[in-house]
Amino acid sequence: MLRGRTIGLRARHEEDIPVLRTELYDDVVNAVRAEGGPWRPLTPGTKDPRLVVDDTAQGWVQFSVVELEGGTLIGTATLWDIDTHHRSAHIGLGLLPSARGKGYGTDVVATLCHYGFVVRSLRRLQVETLSDNTAMLRSAERNGFVREGVLRSSAWVLGEFLDEVVLGLLVEEWKAEPESR
Ligand SMILES: CC(C)(COP(=O)(O)OP(=O)(O)OC[C@H]1O[C@@H](n2cnc3c(N)ncnc32)[C@H](O)[C@@H]1OP(=O)(O)O)[C@@H](O)C(=O)NCCC(=O)NCCS
Repeated sequence: MLRGRTIGLRARHEEDIPVLRTELYDDVVNAVRAEGGPWRPLTPGTKDPRLVVDDTAQGWVQFSVVELEGGTLIGTATLWDIDTHHRSAHIGLGLLPSARGKGYGTDVVATLCHYGFVVRSLRRLQVETLSDNTAMLRSAERNGFVREGVLRSSAWVLGEFLDEVVLGLLVEEWKAEPESR
């Protein structure tokens, strides 16, 4: 398990799946805003790759996010589109509603940076998020990500086109927290 200050990133467990399905993917507004695609229901027992991890997939790594103290499941985190030639990848995360706004998101981004830069020797990490997603923008910026551009009207979200913001962080700009993970 990777350890942040307050959260851990561990493998997906079977018992995580119904919780993530119900609390994240069955929430239409959350799913549409966080995933940038059309919502459709996930059948119980589905093998959808957002829930059921394929350990052999080389291009992305999925984690379940837990509280370090007690080990309670609080969300999901992903390093995706890993490109070992350009040494870049994207990060994504989603916390259960009860876990939001407590500083966990910032810590998850920090821990994903450690995984990307230190464990995977990547050089560039990228985040895309809706321009009104203040919590995601701040979680990234707190870790040193800088806004690199706005994709105007790039996302169809429940009846309207919204802007997306692209943020990037290079390894030489990244300041890891002093404590080891
Ligand atoms: C986006 C998300 C991961 C952020 O994690 P979080 O734990 O809620 O964020 P934090 O508590 O670490 O807060 C980070 C910053 O955002 C601010 N913030 C948190 N929730 C906020 C809200 N609802 N509105 C405005 N600002 C907010 C915090 O004050 C903090 O700001 P600061 O760094 O200036 O002090 C989480 O809210 C979430 O899972 N949301 C739903 C899914 C989603 O949007 N995923 C991202 C898709 S790209």
